[in-house]
Amino acid sequence: MSNLANKNILLCVTGGIAAYKAAELVRLFKTANAFVRVLMTQGAQEFITPLTMQALSGDKVHTDLLNTEAEAAMGHIELAKWSDLIVVAPCSANSLSKLAEGRGDDLFSAVCLASESDLFVAPAMNQAMWKDMRTQKNLKRIIKFGAKIIGPASGEQACGDIGEGRMTEPKEIFSEIENEIECGLLAGRKVLITAGPTQEMIDPVRFISNKSSGKMGFSLAEEIKNQGAIVTLISGPVNLDTPDKVKRFDVQSAKEMQSKVEELIEDCDIFISAAAVADFKPKKYEQKKIKKGSEVHQMKIELDKNFDILKTVTDKKLNLKTVGFAAETEDLINNAEKKLVEKNLDLIVANDVSDQSIGFDSDENEVTLITKLEKKKIKKTSKKNVSKKIIEFIAQKVIND
Ligand code: CTP
Repeated sequence: MSNLANKNILLCVTGGIAAYKAAELVRLFKTANAFVRVLMTQGAQEFITPLTMQALSGDKVHTDLLNTEAEAAMGHIELAKWSDLIVVAPCSANSLSKLAEGRGDDLFSAVCLASESDLFVAPAMNQAMWKDMRTQKNLKRIIKFGAKIIGPASGEQACGDIGEGRMTEPKEIFSEIENEIECGLLAGRKVLITAGPTQEMIDPVRFISNKSSGKMGFSLAEEIKNQGAIVTLISGPVNLDTPDKVKRFDVQSAKEMQSKVEELIEDCDIFISAAAVADFKPKKYEQKKIKKGSEVHQMKIELDKNFDILKTVTDKKLNLKTVGFAAETEDLINNAEKKLVEKNLDLIVANDVSDQSIGFDSDENEVTLITKLEKKKIKKTSKKNVSKKIIEFIAQKVIND
């Protein structure tokens, strides 16, 4: 599992013969499941075409500061904000001086100036240029501003000189960056989460559902992604934005949710069932809107039981950890403990939904985490904080048990 999984990496390629080696870096970052965008200076484009980098990264290469079309798609400030880390490889003497001076006269220097993310610089230049006092002064300045320098290596240079100035090999650059980046609690894990309610249609305009807003599941998805996991979210009908870098599938009914879970479950390490799945669905779906009729004073809808999605997963006895939620209005701990055993879960999050301030649709929650070995109460706090605590618990107690 790579620490770089899920990270947004902006690879800046500047002018120099080593530019062709940047292609290998893109491949290494992609293999580590990072999201990669490539920025090329004018000089870099003399050595390798943007098309090559586009084909490898899967995204249009960023080249111009003042191109309105490109800026409309993703402006330089957006690009700076998007990146979790910026890697300049190769970094020419000229680009190094731009970084040191804090220039903003091309896309490369403007993005680096606007960015607050980690900056890794792999210099590559002729040995005399590297040794020059002015380059060394620039280097000290960017180190002072927080840049991390990788290399350069020594050896024979493209121009025939021998000495220090060759770009460090891509594999080494990759490992140095990987070692520097803090490892999230769930780095590289694949997590599948369900969230929100399901809707069980009665006729074209009516359905049975519940009060779940999806906030808890979405917050969990976001925080888990922040801990380096690759997150897939299956959501019932909710009014929430998809967290950045989370893959989302929308479903309506429990049956649809079940099919999507079955499709994706084999490929995950942790399954978190935060959805409030409707337990019953109408036995018959009426194709046309049911009319009330002047003589009718009562109506009955026959219901069939839905499958228990979570139980279906644990019955498969796959090699994954399972987390359920218990939404209770009475006897919280006992009921949750029963579900933990009956559904054969690794963890159940007991949630009192009778209290409006912590139940469905609120921004806060108070829960008790229950495993077969222990219980831990998380006092009332924001759903974001609750998510963080659940993740810490999963990382410490569930994954490593
Ligand atoms: N669950 C599920 N499929 C269902 C019902 C529930 O996957 N058809 C999951 C929920 O996502 C949750 C856990 O099972 O993680 C417990 O759900 P909850 O609604 O609290 O309990 P139920 O099992 O439905 O039991 P009851 O309604 O009797 O409390």
